[in-house]
Amino acid sequence: MNTDLLIVGGDGDLALRKLYPSLYYLELNDCMPENVQIIGMARTANEQTAFLAKVKEWLQANVSEALYSDEKWQAFSSKIVFAQGDATNPESLAKVKEEFLGEGNQLVVYLAIPPNIFGNVCSSLEACGLAKPTTRLVVEKPLGESRESFLAINDELARVFTEEQLFRIDHYLGKETVQNLIAMRFANDIFEPLWNSKYIDHVQITVSESVGVGNRWSFYDQTGATRDMVQNHLLQVLCLLAMEPPAVLNAESVRAEKLKVLNCLKTITPENVKEYTVRGQYRNGVVDGTSVPGYLEEESDKYEIDPNSQTETYVALQAEIQNWRWSGVPIYLRTGKRLQSRHSEIVVQFKQSHHQIFNQNHLEHKPNRMVIRLQPDEGIRLRIMNKVAGLEAGIPLESGCLDFHFGGANHVKKHDAYSRLLFDVLRNDQTLFVSAAEVEAAWKWVDQIFAAWKETGMKAEGYMAGSFGPPGADVLIARGGREWHNLVL
Ligand code: BG6
Repeated sequence: MNTDLLIVGGDGDLALRKLYPSLYYLELNDCMPENVQIIGMARTANEQTAFLAKVKEWLQANVSEALYSDEKWQAFSSKIVFAQGDATNPESLAKVKEEFLGEGNQLVVYLAIPPNIFGNVCSSLEACGLAKPTTRLVVEKPLGESRESFLAINDELARVFTEEQLFRIDHYLGKETVQNLIAMRFANDIFEPLWNSKYIDHVQITVSESVGVGNRWSFYDQTGATRDMVQNHLLQVLCLLAMEPPAVLNAESVRAEKLKVLNCLKTITPENVKEYTVRGQYRNGVVDGTSVPGYLEEESDKYEIDPNSQTETYVALQAEIQNWRWSGVPIYLRTGKRLQSRHSEIVVQFKQSHHQIFNQNHLEHKPNRMVIRLQPDEGIRLRIMNKVAGLEAGIPLESGCLDFHFGGANHVKKHDAYSRLLFDVLRNDQTLFVSAAEVEAAWKWVDQIFAAWKETGMKAEGYMAGSFGPPGADVLIARGGREWHNLVL
């Protein structure tokens, strides 16, 4: 069947930076389904040749040189057409339909536009007869800034499309290593018996970024790290790490299990918010050898910087999943901008047995720890204890590790998170997309954190750019007698 992929916002930042390069990867991997036409729709005047030149320029900037080939570009670009029009206007959309969309083709619409116009575009699609029962609609964050605003956006989508037609992207679910959590947990039977509060002491999920907010200041100041990263990416990673085995590997089962995790998160209240959360904001400092300004000294894109802004560019949270498997296990989540390095990882710290048989004098007996590195150096590292080789009396111990790298040193990735997700939209598989119920549950949990911050007047604590975050985060984790895993085994 022929497929029309209509990208609304077809010459915007998301489309140019992410979507076309990711679709190119499908071409490169010979995964582009046959007879796909990609229609980049935008209001701006453009003509086909100039538009393709622009797409090519962005593609070459975003795809590694080794993976660019003129031959693949020719094949790919022959599938792209530019369509000028305003998707919020039914007449304009009808013209695009007439000129570019095939009657009877499978239609996929990607809304690469701000959510405040999702509703108008949906009405317009409906008015033009494009909201057919087979149409698929792809959207992505920011899906609201609270549960209430998410529901308002979702109502507009749900008025025209069913849940089975909606593909909500969280690009973290497109990452290989995030999907590998499912493989690691459910394809390796040795872990499952240990994956609970009896054997696991605590979990840390870290997404650390070295970049600042740059020229996104005005967007970011309305958002902050909790809404930008925790509500979606970190909670999705947590769901895959903590969910019960789904009955089968399909969208319905996986999403149902993830939802249960979100619904079991312990509520953060004004009474416990100071114990369980820390918000931070970066001050000037040095990152990768370069001096960088503080958050309040960044060059704003649109507005005056608010010198009193309390927007958090860092957040650390102690969460708990209150269910049979996890109750009592602290789950520490942290993410921030302008930190020491860019890396994301999950640390699963196992408990240590109470009774020790080894000589206390040369005891370096540490509990087992599994570090699942999501990026950049993807892999799994397991800390185990070994005997120190030699003739020393007894069994002296030292720690070592089993280290598994997914890619190998010279590995060049031939696809990215969006390629996988776009491919899944084209083959109509919703497993790696987020359901409305999940987004709502995640917002519900995040909303009460904001409510508690507001009620208690909790402010953002400064941290130096290039550091591991604010000192308060060390205090938070130290309360439980633990410490952050800062790039050490
Ligand atoms: C986005 C956030 O969703 O994820 C950005 O809006 C953040 O602020 C980005 O930088 C991080 O994604 P990745 O894939 O680089 O870890």
